[in-house]
Amino acid sequence: MAKGKTTVFFCQNCGYESSKWLGQCPGCREWNTMVEEKVSGKNGGARGNATGRKDAEPVSLGEVDLSEKARMTTHMAELDRVLGGGIVPGSLTLVGGDPGIGKSTLLLQVCRHMAADGHKLLYISGEESLQQIKLRANRIGDFSENLLLLCETSLETVEQTIRKQMPAVAVIDSIQTMYHEEISSAPGSISQVRESTNVLMQLAKGLGVSIFIVGHVTKEGTVAGPRVLEHMVDTVLYFEGDRHASYRILRGVKNRFGSTNEIGVFEMKEEGLSEVKNASEFMLSGKPEGASGSVVSCSMEGTRPILLEIQALVCHSNFGIPRRQAIGMDFNRLNLLMAVLEKRLNLQMSDCDAYVNLAGGMRIVEPAIDLGVAMAVASSFKNRVIDDKTIVFGEIGLSGEVRGVSMAAQRVAEAAKLGFTTCILPKVNVGQIKPPAGMQVIGVGTVRDAIDLI
Ligand code: TYD
Ligand code: MG
Repeated sequence: MAKGKTTVFFCQNCGYESSKWLGQCPGCREWNTMVEEKVSGKNGGARGNATGRKDAEPVSLGEVDLSEKARMTTHMAELDRVLGGGIVPGSLTLVGGDPGIGKSTLLLQVCRHMAADGHKLLYISGEESLQQIKLRANRIGDFSENLLLLCETSLETVEQTIRKQMPAVAVIDSIQTMYHEEISSAPGSISQVRESTNVLMQLAKGLGVSIFIVGHVTKEGTVAGPRVLEHMVDTVLYFEGDRHASYRILRGVKNRFGSTNEIGVFEMKEEGLSEVKNASEFMLSGKPEGASGSVVSCSMEGTRPILLEIQALVCHSNFGIPRRQAIGMDFNRLNLLMAVLEKRLNLQMSDCDAYVNLAGGMRIVEPAIDLGVAMAVASSFKNRVIDDKTIVFGEIGLSGEVRGVSMAAQRVAEAAKLGFTTCILPKVNVGQIKPPAGMQVIGVGTVRDAIDLI
């Protein structure tokens, strides 16, 4: 941006920046989204650097001091794992999710546990009154005096309070309500959200205060407009789940301090969120016995194997074009697997409707459930029941071959823990595992081998 320029146009949809007004945004091709905004020289660009250090002397890696960066535990193992082992001091974490999913509840519970640990906590709400927060807190339990509350939307006041109180962790609920005086647009707009996050980042890095930002997901499914925040923060967590079901999944999308494919499973109860330690058991509760089209498969979520039930219903279609529906898995993947079944096994399903549902409402992208899906479809089509104590996993290729998957041993161990006695898995994986006592492992090379077993 040119020096001395005081106004810039921002696209409210994607954050595209332009020096002149445009009818259509070149970034996202939306119309009438460009809004003029004032930019003072102070916050137009980056202020200092992300570490808050003003000196620009380069240092060698050996000189970087790591000793004070011990992580703080939240006393919620599910959350700690998603964070990569606890909260890193001075980190900025974004917790995104649909309204009402439980973000405020989760963070209030984090505050409760950490305050009980003797840390100083600051919970800043721009959405609710102190009374409303107290009502929620009453449901959760007793709180220590170490937790301080503030109802505020002015970012300047928030900044002053954090500087004055110097808490270990501060929670901003939510970033869409924060208001920066120097920016003329309304709270929740792209520039407000971005500038507020920028100020919070400087605070977190400069003071070593860990900050959690709550961000509501827009109707496009992204936090506060497409990706404007994600690149600025250290960690992005999404809180998801069916609002009608009681369980919630916390998913790491970005993490500068740990792996991103970890998930945490929680259950929303009367007295707040409780951790679900045994996710597989939870996912399998309610599985029908002796029903065709029902298969148990296993997916790795980060380092954790999760067993889940795949349900398929294949029935005669009354219309020219059969209906296909996939809930919890990729629709195109289902079509592909059904095409493989038709071609390689001669199952004539072209005049059948097919519905596949991953029970429990989980969304799985791992191809290791392919074999489970194929067997569920075949089981429903042929009306043959697959044994309740059997678990199936493996990736399917286009020529009908069953390909190996990673971490087969962990999957088999998880199945054994839950009382499964038979495991159908890719042939190449059989050599890599030592089956636990009481577990029969059957290696299959093609889908035909697997379907022949039923
Ligand atoms: P909330 O944390 O306010 O959601 P968010 O901050 O993501 O908008 O959670 C709201 C929902 O959680 C609300 O529908 C009520 C429910 N809830 C419980 O079921 N039990 C509880 O103990 C609490 C505090 C909330
Ligand atoms: Mg809330």
